[in-house]
Amino acid sequence: MTLLERTRYLQSAPDPVTLEGLQERIDSLVDVLSEHGQLYYRQDEPIITDGEYDGLLNSLRALEELHPVLRRLDSPTHRVGSAPLDGFEKVAHPEPMLSLGNAFNADDLKAWYDRCLKRLEIEDGRPTVALTAELKIDGLAVALTYEDGLLVRAATRGDGRVGENITQNVRTIGNVPLRLSGTNVPRQVEVRGEIYFPKSAFEALNDSLRSRDQKLFANPRNAAAGSLRQLDSSVTASRELALFAYSTGPATDPVAPSQYDSLYRLREWGFGINEHARRFTSIEHVVSFCESWTDKREDLDHEIDGVVVKIDRIDLQEELGNVSNAPRWAVAFKFPARESSTTLNDIIVNVGRTGMITPEAVLEPVVIGGVTVSQATLHNAAYIMDRDIRIGDTVVVKRAGDVIPAVVSSVTTTRDGSEQIWKMPSECPACSEILEQLEGEVDSYCVNGACPAQFIRLVEHFASRNALDIEGFGSKLAVILVEAGLISKLQDIYSLDRDALLALDNFGEKKTDNLLQGIEQSKDRALAHVLFGLGIRHVGRTTAETIVGTLPTMQRIAASSAEELTAIEGIGDVIAQSLVDWFGREPNKILIQAMEDAGVRMERSEKEATPSGDDAPFEGLTFVVTGTLPTLGRKDAQDFIKQRGGKASSSVSKKTHYVVMGDNAGSKADKARELGVSIIDEAELLNMGGA
Ligand code: IVH
Repeated sequence: MTLLERTRYLQSAPDPVTLEGLQERIDSLVDVLSEHGQLYYRQDEPIITDGEYDGLLNSLRALEELHPVLRRLDSPTHRVGSAPLDGFEKVAHPEPMLSLGNAFNADDLKAWYDRCLKRLEIEDGRPTVALTAELKIDGLAVALTYEDGLLVRAATRGDGRVGENITQNVRTIGNVPLRLSGTNVPRQVEVRGEIYFPKSAFEALNDSLRSRDQKLFANPRNAAAGSLRQLDSSVTASRELALFAYSTGPATDPVAPSQYDSLYRLREWGFGINEHARRFTSIEHVVSFCESWTDKREDLDHEIDGVVVKIDRIDLQEELGNVSNAPRWAVAFKFPARESSTTLNDIIVNVGRTGMITPEAVLEPVVIGGVTVSQATLHNAAYIMDRDIRIGDTVVVKRAGDVIPAVVSSVTTTRDGSEQIWKMPSECPACSEILEQLEGEVDSYCVNGACPAQFIRLVEHFASRNALDIEGFGSKLAVILVEAGLISKLQDIYSLDRDALLALDNFGEKKTDNLLQGIEQSKDRALAHVLFGLGIRHVGRTTAETIVGTLPTMQRIAASSAEELTAIEGIGDVIAQSLVDWFGREPNKILIQAMEDAGVRMERSEKEATPSGDDAPFEGLTFVVTGTLPTLGRKDAQDFIKQRGGKASSSVSKKTHYVVMGDNAGSKADKARELGVSIIDEAELLNMGGA
């Protein structure tokens, strides 16, 4: 019988009456649910709905509750957590979990390899002394013991000799096999790996903690640790933890002749392994691999803090042995720090487009990862208070990739009493309006509709790429035009006087005419861009597209009540009310009229209409475009998808149907491979779309 046939049978079978029948039913339910779990977690191709899965799980749970002795160790009911513990039991590791020596640069790595060769009495390592390089996952090390293929114990590393028993919690992690599959499974084997919190899930967790006014986790590693050390395993179950297995510990039979082969054996058994592991025969290639990940790490959906380099052959590893608490046969290449400490000289505030006031740190300049940082964000007043950050403090500043540097914490031990507690100013720094805190929000706002700082930001936003997309109109120009008095209301953009522009410093004929031409062209932007450009609170780009998908003219949008707006899928009360308020204000009515008079598009273009039927070959499909496509730009490719009824999303998930890959595709292509999402190229996209 196929899996689906067995599933259908279980969904409709009458309750078993004999004890034997009961055990058989429990066995079938466990098997069928485990197979569905595999399809979901490993292949990302579930064949039943979440509701159907839960239905089967509930019938299994009901049977187990009636007869607890029949509950199997690999029952998926363990995944949802069990009764809270009073504390964690200590467990001694049969073989210590060692730590690693560090290498900070190419020379350190080469010196380590030379030491290995010398000890092995081998002159030239190639190809006998191959190396495996793996990403060093920044999570928590665990040791999982399997007996007869069943997960019987999971322990933290602890001090390397004694850890804590966290079996109940680890059983809730979706990609940890409760029973090993495949061949050559030793009767008893310990599997070691790293439990981590994906970055995306970490951000979602902090968002949800923030919305409930709960304490946030500082980084994904802390979130993983905090989630694993829960006495109530149902809390762990609610967190999206995952495991990368990287080696085996003590086992009753040898697992594989090399580290690289062990990884593939682990994968056969059902574990997630990190797919970026590579085997090399020269240390120079290992060095390039390590250096390349120093930058690429930003693209991964999990944190790494280095690369672990291991002598590949297990017999050579054994020959090399250990020194005190680290193996000689492995070394951790550590990336340069992305954090550094410096003095917080002052805190100033910025005024955003919506009037939101954001504090910013003025720092004693410090070099982090090769870049000098003198300003960093402090997010909001609550952030500063929660972390007790004071002016004059030594603070830790983090810089990651393209992200704006941020102050992450203050060092309280170096205080001498001269530090000052910062207070949110009571007035707007740009217009002196008394700042207000809106009900239920942590941020302070300048509510003066005529505040010049807010207005400059609004003009900048109006002209930006996803809004009216006015060529050559960036933030500097917004400041110049507003400060020169040429723009005092948004609609002034459409009646700029050529002579007045020419009279400005550095405005020649060419620059002026280009700007005026850019403004002219902006009148034909899609209605969703125009709506987004107005800078209405809570109306982002996607929301604007959603609204325009149902309401085809600015007039209809302006005339809609909150009820009519919330009837649109994806539009909630907050957005609806914000729109109603905005369109209700007199100056805004005048703005819309003036824009219409100037000839700005106020109706949905044909391209924006939601296609259906034959015009919608992509209906129900979600695409992610990544890398550089040969002819279509990314934006054009996304439009192509949308015009044919598809959804163009920016991040790859289980819900993605196709990843359209161009040159130099980064982590999204990796993620697609990881999740088994189909990868197509531009030609295939065009073909599927009937172009
Ligand atoms: S192998 C004998 N491989 O790094 C030590 N460790 O300092 C063998 N880690 O806490 C460790 N990713 O949990 C190894 N691919 C990887 C790893 C890795 C992360 C952690 C490990 C330990 C620390 C070692």
